[in-house]
Amino acid sequence: MTGEIAFRRAVSSDEQDIFQLYKNVARLPGGIAREEDEVDPGYISHFMLQSLNRGLEVVAVTPSGRIVGEIHAYPPGIKVFAHAFSDLTIVVDPEFQGKGIGRNLFREFLRIVETEFPEILRVELVVRESNEHALRLYESLGFKVEGNFEYRIKSVDEGYESDVPMGWIRGR
Ligand SMILES: CC(C)(COP(=O)(O)OP(=O)(O)OC[C@H]1O[C@@H](n2cnc3c(N)ncnc32)[C@H](O)[C@@H]1OP(=O)(O)O)[C@@H](O)C(=O)NCCC(=O)NCCS
Repeated sequence: MTGEIAFRRAVSSDEQDIFQLYKNVARLPGGIAREEDEVDPGYISHFMLQSLNRGLEVVAVTPSGRIVGEIHAYPPGIKVFAHAFSDLTIVVDPEFQGKGIGRNLFREFLRIVETEFPEILRVELVVRESNEHALRLYESLGFKVEGNFEYRIKSVDEGYESDVPMGWIRGR
């Protein structure tokens, strides 16, 4: 199944498909920080512009051409942070989750960082503490937990939970 999935750099004409993908992912609570009604075209076009111009965006595509996964990150835009990729988000369509696509997509992303972005020394992300399989996935790819932002993010229930900052360092 996942052997048929191809990974490639995103292009601007992917925008509509990526918008639909994020809508599908946001429908399920407990994953990305946005709810479905907060996934609007402006959000998608902003991160795509930043990622395509200054950062990296990779998509996972089925043999029929459907985009079922996406990952992006880019430097914060200030010279002192120019060696870091930040604002990272990874999503896999709910129908395709748990099949190894997210792991292979992230591996491909880091392979491109290592080979084509020598100036990038650090990749950072934040994950809610209850998203345990995502947290373990990132650890297995070389990310380390760097702290704990307590009460930062609303839980699926009425409470709040920690957001966990994680970092990947080139060569570590
Ligand atoms: C997080 C996400 C990108 C992972 O992608 P995926 O294709 O589902 O993950 P994979 O199939 O590659 O699995 C990665 C690991 O997580 C585990 N895993 C995946 N889904 C799981 C689930 N529902 N429950 C428990 N473990 C799970 C797998 O066992 C795998 O570990 P292994 O390789 O050691 O066996 C995807 O689930 C997703 O889009 N979730 C919603 C959005 C989100 O949370 N994004 C991250 C925000 S920080």
